Amino acid sequence: MFRSYIENYVNDLKTKNLYRNVGNRIDGPIANESEAICSGDANDHLNFSSNDYLGLSHNKDSIAAGYKAAVLYGSGSTGSRLLSGNAEIFEKFESQIARDKKFESSLIFNSGFIANSSVISSLCIPETIFIFDKLNHASMYERIDSAKTKLVRYKHLNYNELEDILKKCNSHKNKIIASETVFGMDGDIADVKVLAQLSQKYGALLFLDEAHATGLYGKNGYGISADFELDQSLTVVMGTFGKALSSSGAYVACSELMKKYLINRSKGFIYSTALSPFCMGVAMHNWNLLKTFKETRGRIIEFANNFRHNIGGLGYKAGGADTNIVPIIFDNINAMLDLNIKLLKNRILASAVRPPASPTSRIRFAVNATHSEENLNRVIEVLKK
Ligand SMILES: Cc1ncc(COP(=O)(O)O)c(C=O)c1O
Repeated sequence: MFRSYIENYVNDLKTKNLYRNVGNRIDGPIANESEAICSGDANDHLNFSSNDYLGLSHNKDSIAAGYKAAVLYGSGSTGSRLLSGNAEIFEKFESQIARDKKFESSLIFNSGFIANSSVISSLCIPETIFIFDKLNHASMYERIDSAKTKLVRYKHLNYNELEDILKKCNSHKNKIIASETVFGMDGDIADVKVLAQLSQKYGALLFLDEAHATGLYGKNGYGISADFELDQSLTVVMGTFGKALSSSGAYVACSELMKKYLINRSKGFIYSTALSPFCMGVAMHNWNLLKTFKETRGRIIEFANNFRHNIGGLGYKAGGADTNIVPIIFDNINAMLDLNIKLLKNRILASAVRPPASPTSRIRFAVNATHSEENLNRVIEVLKK
């Protein structure tokens, strides 16, 4: 019974070209080469697939900081934070994140997926309506309890529609607006100022996901929300350590009261072994470096905007604006797969993304600190062929 269901599921995906494989094996950058060139199965390929936005994943000092934390606190955390796993480094890093994000407190989770799904799940209380940007990440949808709460979605970045929904949902005592700040698959940016105004005006809690914004956006790289004075009683911000911070894990910045609630309510926090001290050491070290990357951040966005412009000039539909994420969007999955093959033949690795990860198929380029102008021009030359 299960077997035939599973077989049909997999075969159906294959016939629709929606079947996914784990990616090419990438062991790291090729020794003595630019960090943008990878080794492994995708040997000698120019890598635009990685979320290592600041190019820190092979930074010797960052790895040494992880090692030092492991020597001090152990290779594993040995338990949930509520039991034996609460090493000093967690509390230090939480205080620092809270300060830099201008929040009363913060709480560390084992991943962005767990942070999003656990926090949203903890907020599934009766008389709640979640109002989502249509393109929010899957982790925010994962644990919505539809028996207790309602979910409605507004068109991507359409704040008039969001306000119309807010006006009409008076029967719901608890309103929660949720949005990514930098959209990871689309490469565009939410208007945090407008979202915060709407949250205030309608007394709605604002939940922001800064997974892709952490490290690259905001004055000091602490994310877009850090540049605003947000109402702590009405805002919760999530950011991850797995992308620009080249580690693993995530934080949730929030009020002291919300932190107390999450510690007592979030199953992903309560019932899971805390992150390894190595991950914490790397994430904290790299967080401390963010202030020093101002110029790099400017260069990455400038390169990406030129790249986007040049791709558009070739007749492709290049998505996003003012971010390092540049998707080429296709109506037809086969056209996307053809371009992917062409890129691979020319030793260029980008992410082939298909529904349901995004509503339309796309090749997603993530421009990072290791890319040169020459690297970007190489892609343009291939796209011209
Ligand atoms: C917008 C967004 N939120 C959350 C996550 C999950 O973060 P993590 O990889 O730390 O689980 C991702 C990861 O792809 C993401 O793109």
